[in-house]
Amino acid sequence: MTQAELMRFDAAINPYGCSPAVVDALVAAAQARAFRHYGDVDARALREGLARHYHLHPDNFVVYNGSGEAHVWQCVARLLIARGVFICPYPSYERFVEVGRRCARSVVEVPLVPGSWTLPVDDFIAAARGSGATVAMISSPNNPTGNCILDESSLTTLLDALPECTFLLDEAYAEYTSTSFAGLVRTRRNLIVLKTFSKAYGLAGLRVGYLVAHPDVAAGARMIQIPWSVDSLALTAAEAALGDQAYLREVVTRIRNDLGHFQAGLGRLAHVRAYPSDANFVLAELVGTTWQSLEPRLAARGIVVRRRADMPEHIRVTCMTPEANEVLLQALAAEPES
Ligand SMILES: Cc1ncc(COP(=O)(O)O)c(C=O)c1O
Repeated sequence: MTQAELMRFDAAINPYGCSPAVVDALVAAAQARAFRHYGDVDARALREGLARHYHLHPDNFVVYNGSGEAHVWQCVARLLIARGVFICPYPSYERFVEVGRRCARSVVEVPLVPGSWTLPVDDFIAAARGSGATVAMISSPNNPTGNCILDESSLTTLLDALPECTFLLDEAYAEYTSTSFAGLVRTRRNLIVLKTFSKAYGLAGLRVGYLVAHPDVAAGARMIQIPWSVDSLALTAAEAALGDQAYLREVVTRIRNDLGHFQAGLGRLAHVRAYPSDANFVLAELVGTTWQSLEPRLAARGIVVRRRADMPEHIRVTCMTPEANEVLLQALAAEPES
């Protein structure tokens, strides 16, 4: 990675990148000009690999250009055409909420508990019932707060309490927790789990993600899929990445370890309140200082952090390499100008 890329703390990517097996598979495919053929029309090989990985059936999976594309199709079908109501926690992953906003008749946002950022499950159920919500979107670990906002018991409570509402559970960062609720689709038809190769697997630029759902629900999603929508090199890369679970475990352990040091460093800073994270990024609140005073110090070092217009006193920073994290910590530690 270039120095400028290393200073990008805004994108929540894995700075160590993908498994070497992915590079080998891509080089072999390129040398063989394998892409002269149309690829695997419905990603059968990848779906078979996913079925082995999750102990599910290939019919439980639909593969897309990123989990973002899966989310868009679900919102178009379930909200735009059906004129449904979208419900989600606040704050949540802005891009996915924005898709809901464009597709839904209305959007209901249920505030997370400030400070702990936990999901008030009863409030969520009441708001969904009150609004007649048909699609719920929840990211866990949540972006931007970084914490897991669901466990199995709260998720099943929601699914059981709201049978008419389809839950899009976004698990983009779940590899960092080594937990997934994908297995629940065996018995729950109102759950669609969105997964991605963009984050821990290190394939963000290749665009591969998938949904996991009950076979009947997945069949409905497949009916509105574009044939050959995911290109053959992206599928080759995803198959190789999935096949190297040892690398995934190694890189996740390394990033969790880096994150521990990063969080400890953030915790020592006087002007920052960092929230605990189960993902590979940290939400930090600026205390006793302002973005206006911080911005020039970050800009001078080429540092880019994630900010949101609705949370002006917060920054979200990805755990990059230990050396890059140190540069950020030093920039944040510098005394604010009076
Ligand atoms: C919570 C969350 N979900 C999904 C995505 C996007 O995933 P994909 O690259 O698979 O579209 C991101 C990317 O930043 C994210 O933060």
